[in-house]
Formats: sequence, C-alpha cells, structure tokens
Amino acid sequence: MRKQIAAANWKMNLTLQQGEELLDNILSKISSVEEGRQAVFAVPAPYLVMAQQKVAGKQNIFVAAQNCYSKKSGAYTGEISVEMLQSLGVTFVVLGHSERREYFNESNQLLADKINIALEYNITPIFCCGEPLAIREAGTQNDFVAQQLEESLYHLSAEQLQKIVIAYEPIWAIGTGKTASSAQAEEMHAFIRLQLQDKYGIDVAESITILYGGSVKAANAKELFGQPDVDGGLVGGASLIADEFVAIINALK
Ligand code: 13P
Repeated sequence: MRKQIAAANWKMNLTLQQGEELLDNILSKISSVEEGRQAVFAVPAPYLVMAQQKVAGKQNIFVAAQNCYSKKSGAYTGEISVEMLQSLGVTFVVLGHSERREYFNESNQLLADKINIALEYNITPIFCCGEPLAIREAGTQNDFVAQQLEESLYHLSAEQLQKIVIAYEPIWAIGTGKTASSAQAEEMHAFIRLQLQDKYGIDVAESITILYGGSVKAANAKELFGQPDVDGGLVGGASLIADEFVAIINALK
C-alpha cells in the first residue's frame, strides 16, 4: 500500500518555546509511527534544528522545511538551500503551497526548478496544488490542477516522480473551516491519479501518496483519510493543537 502521511504545517506560527512544547507534547503521546505510515512536521526554518533533534531516532517521524530556494548556493540573502536542509538531516520540503504561490509569486516553472534541486539532494518534495474558489465555482478545477501538475512535474522521470508526495489543497478550504467534502476530495484525488496514470502508467500512479489539505481536523480526518485515493493530510491550524494532531496521525489508514 502507498505510504500514508500526516503532515503538520505550522506556517508562520509559534515561538521557539511554544514549538518545543507542542512537539514534546505530541511526541510524549506518539513516540514512533508504525511502518507504512509517517508523521511529518513542517516547522518554521529557525526551528528545524530543534525539531530534527527531537525526532532523531524516532521511527517514521520526520521534519520538513516549509520552503527552499531553487539555486544550490550563493548570493541569495535570506534564502535556504537544499544543501543546508540536507546537512541538518531534514528529509522533506513543502513546495508550492498556495500561500507561497499567492504572496511570493511562485510560478509552476519556479516550482519545477525547486523540485529538481530537492530531488538532487534526496529531499522529498511535498508538492502542493489546488484551485481558488472562483475556479471551483466555474467548475474548471480539474483543468487548473492538471496544468499545475503538467508544468511543475511532468518533466520528471517515472523514478523521480515516485519520490514525490502530492498535496491537494483547495484554496477555498484552507484556514476557512470549510473542508472539501470527502466526496469532493476523493473526486480530485482520483482525477490527479488518473492524470499521473496517463503520463506515467498505472504502477507509478498507484504508488504516489496524495495528501488532502484544507481544514483537516480530528473530527473529519477519519472520513477524509478513509477515501480510497486520499493517503493522509497536510494540516495547518489543527496541527498546532497537540491532541488534534495526535488524533489526526491515529486516523491514518
Ligand atoms: P488549514 O488546515 O489551517 O486549513 O491549512 C491547510 C494548509 O494550508 C496546510 O498546508
């Protein structure tokens, strides 16, 4: 079976002390995650070392960066390279979050470059895609997401693609409390998998973990993750509450 993943995205929240407390609290309740499942914590960059130290040696618990730059190194003040992440032992990076696309003008092409460099350094990209409300209301969400996949992923070989995790996050469901219904989530996840199948074949498509993100919480996680093509979640707000995120990890298939 595909890997099932509960990924926390803390976004730009919490002080170092609050982050440590939250992670300690969660890890006191879940000290390892069983094979076939993973818990991932995408923490703010200044907390990567702290988080990496706390999860070190814990089975199937990993740390992610929330972003990285597309260049190897050099005069890019303020940016974070994948080589830096690798040197910390960080194994995941969230790329293409809608907030970065919107506020920092990240294009599908830039994301293709970021994905390439992450893969070069053996860091697993959690590639986010998803449509805004106007596109959903116009009923063209499939075309919109298909284009995101095409422009950021389809230059990859099948072997490279299999190292990627995809997160479908409809923008209208992020931080709004308005979750996609499990049927809406499944419909898009199945569509994404079909696109991957058309391009890379069924075996590759069936092996890719596709997460759902957008107002996932303990109360809806089981139902969402129970859908055949939903392989876990990328969680914002609810990942800042220890008991909520523990329940979300426990709701994985
Ligand atoms: P919320 O869970 O707060 O809706 O955020 C989702 C998200 O953007 C995760 O990356």
